[in-house]
Amino acid sequence: MKFFLKTTNLSLLLLALTTLASCTCGDREERQAAARERQGMILANTVEVVQESEGARLYREKTCNTCHGQNGIKPLLPSYPVIAQQGEQYALQQMLDIKSGARSAGQSAAMKPIVQDVTDEEFAILATFIATELGQGKAIGGGNPDENSPGGKLFKSKTCVACHGKDGKTPILKAYPKIAGHGAEYAKLQMLDIKHGKRDNSKAVLGMKGIMHLVSEEEIALLADYIASLPR
Ligand code: HEC
Ligand code: HEC
Repeated sequence: MKFFLKTTNLSLLLLALTTLASCTCGDREERQAAARERQGMILANTVEVVQESEGARLYREKTCNTCHGQNGIKPLLPSYPVIAQQGEQYALQQMLDIKSGARSAGQSAAMKPIVQDVTDEEFAILATFIATELGQGKAIGGGNPDENSPGGKLFKSKTCVACHGKDGKTPILKAYPKIAGHGAEYAKLQMLDIKHGKRDNSKAVLGMKGIMHLVSEEEIALLADYIASLPR
């Protein structure tokens, strides 16, 4: 019994020692791995800081990406706009109008509270970022645009081309939007809001409102599909 206890104690001691040994050894390996990982992270962060522009940082930190998508191309909902490569002047004005509440139609209320702490200076940086960096070099919207489709014909006959350009992305004024590449749902909702006078944040929109008066809701749906088929 005594002997048995001793062996047990001894084996317990041995067991404890081996565990301790493997533990220290494992710890050291773990510490080394953690150190390597930290170095890697520091390196990765340094690289990221070097590469990320101020606009890109704001876009992430102000959580714009959660609704408009990482590249500004795939919004959270089809009723939200594609903002990548939108014109700078237009984008800036819209953001200011959403913050102030001048543009309150549609789903602007989703964005309004989030941009209350964004300053004018930050909006200017974001507008440049949207126009020049966001989604740059990536395919933005578009399918197989057919000028002879019902929507394509309406786009010309209803004089949309006069303000938005034949390709939907060369507006006559910088204050006007590029509409090519928007999702059909967003485009349709905006046209309806402009037609019904709900989106009335700019004088420029009045020009379009006059025309929307002559465009039916069925025609709006056809136009929306055509707009979505045009690449930005
Ligand atoms: C909670 C969701 C949400 C967040 C966060 C958000 N937005 Fe928006 N944004 C929207 C919606 C929805 C609209 C369109 C409103 C409407 O329905 O008329 C919009 C509109 C815009 C427009 C105008 C697009 C156009 O074609 O008229 C720009 C530009 C824009 N957002 C940029 C930003 C930037 C930059 C940020 C971050 C500072 C941001 N948004 C944060 C939801 C959001
Ligand atoms: C007289 C000029 C003019 C004409 C013609 C015109 N638009 Fe517009 N459109 C505008 C302006 C300006 C805006 C942006 C309003 C603002 O500044 O808030 C706009 C906005 C839009 C938007 C929303 C864009 C966005 O990013 O939110 C869509 C979609 C659109 N137009 C489609 C059309 C279609 C389709 C037609 C033809 C039926 C048309 N427009 C005719 C000037 C025009």
